[in-house]
Amino acid sequence: MSRFITAALCAVVVVSAGSVEAMAAYNAAAGKAVYEANCAACHKVSLMGAPKLGDKAAWAPRIAQGEALLVSHSIKGFTGKKGVMAPKGGNAKLTDAQVGNATAYMVQQSK
Ligand code: HEC
Repeated sequence: MSRFITAALCAVVVVSAGSVEAMAAYNAAAGKAVYEANCAACHKVSLMGAPKLGDKAAWAPRIAQGEALLVSHSIKGFTGKKGVMAPKGGNAKLTDAQVGNATAYMVQQSK
């Protein structure tokens, strides 16, 4: 029994360490300019159902999914209950890292 608990605790530690790493991999400060140029059109005013930057209630359940999944949705595109977002917000020229940085910025501003 105690062995099971130890194993379960270890799994929790590994999982949370993984998400900390994912967070650290993206640079929110660098993402601000990417956001302003590519994401603000929808996310500043909640166009087409986009969660608005700084709207904590709209972002909380999304942030709860983990930043890695949000970044993946931003890169690949996402269809949810509110609407549809094209891959990389419609700008295929953006690198995955730029989109990750912009997502990190949006998350940071919306917590
Ligand atoms: C043309 C409008 C539009 C643009 C431009 C746009 N988005 Fe979105 N985005 C949306 C919509 C609409 C949703 C919500 C879809 C839903 O939940 O139904 C969304 C949702 C999201 C989510 C939440 C995904 C989830 O899992 O809940 C993230 C993160 C996101 N966008 C990041 C970005 C980033 C980063 C950019 C810029 C590179 C960007 N978006 C540009 C329309 C847009």
